[in-house]
Amino acid sequence: MMQEQIKNINSLEELQALYTATFGKNGTMTAKLKEMKNLDNDARVALNLENQTLRELFKTRQMEIENAILMAGLQKQKLDVSLNPMPENRGTLHPLTQSLTEISSILESFGYTMHTGPQVEDDWHNFTALNTPLHHPARDMQDTFFLPNGNVLRTQTSAIQIRAMESSGVPIKMFGVGATYRKEWDATHGPMFGQIEGLYIGQGITMSDLIADVRAFLSKFFEIENVELRIRPSYFPFTDPSIEIDLKWKNDKWLEIMGAGMVHPNVLRNCGADPDVYQGFAFGFGWDRLAMLKYNLPDLRDLYNNDVRWLKSAGF
Ligand code: DAH
Repeated sequence: MMQEQIKNINSLEELQALYTATFGKNGTMTAKLKEMKNLDNDARVALNLENQTLRELFKTRQMEIENAILMAGLQKQKLDVSLNPMPENRGTLHPLTQSLTEISSILESFGYTMHTGPQVEDDWHNFTALNTPLHHPARDMQDTFFLPNGNVLRTQTSAIQIRAMESSGVPIKMFGVGATYRKEWDATHGPMFGQIEGLYIGQGITMSDLIADVRAFLSKFFEIENVELRIRPSYFPFTDPSIEIDLKWKNDKWLEIMGAGMVHPNVLRNCGADPDVYQGFAFGFGWDRLAMLKYNLPDLRDLYNNDVRWLKSAGF
């Protein structure tokens, strides 16, 4: 019987041959169908049924044979576990973004809240309110980019502490983050760099609170348990007394990390705070410099070239 015959076929070629012999131009079923008009009703129904059943059987058998071929092929294949995997192309965060995220989360965990400000700054916020009036010799400490209208490209994020006190008043515990600009260009200085400014104004706040926060911050950021700090007297117009803080690095060298001090009474007055009631400290540092140290990078400018090859070779 044809039905048995189909079921016993094991190759696609044989199946195709029998299909052609049945349904092809000169096929047996084709011939029968041509004679359909001479059949009585019952015979027609029977023929139709046979036609359909056979077609289904061919289809089913074809699928079965194809599956069997596939399974046999899979069983013959061996998994070569020594082959290299497809190369993974993963993106990462830029080292500056990584370090900024870390710095912010440490400062936020100490209760400082983040503030930002404009990069094109007016004279008041960048200099005058920071106790650096026109013709003050300290203006020469920073090689400033001036704009024709008298504004400047912000030379220091200290400007943000003024804006923060103006808008939020005192007491305040904030840090300012942003790009700063100076006419500088060498391995450790670029014309644009990232600065962080910390400010804590309240009542009874002293220099030892400043040093405690800086110590805790640096030990967290650099993952050094007992950071050794060196405090040197310095000068900044907006702090009095002013200090510079050095960190003892792994090779026993002292590295200059940040400027800091007790906020000058004039700065507080300029922001509407009474220095007889409120005192506090401020500190400022380059966050790209901190990233350079943490990731052991020789040239600060690499951080701003956005060369993916360099980023990859540096391990980012
Ligand atoms: N603004 C200073 C600079 O750009 C850094 C600085 C020094 C910030 C002392 C401070 C500070 O808040 O108290 O060099």
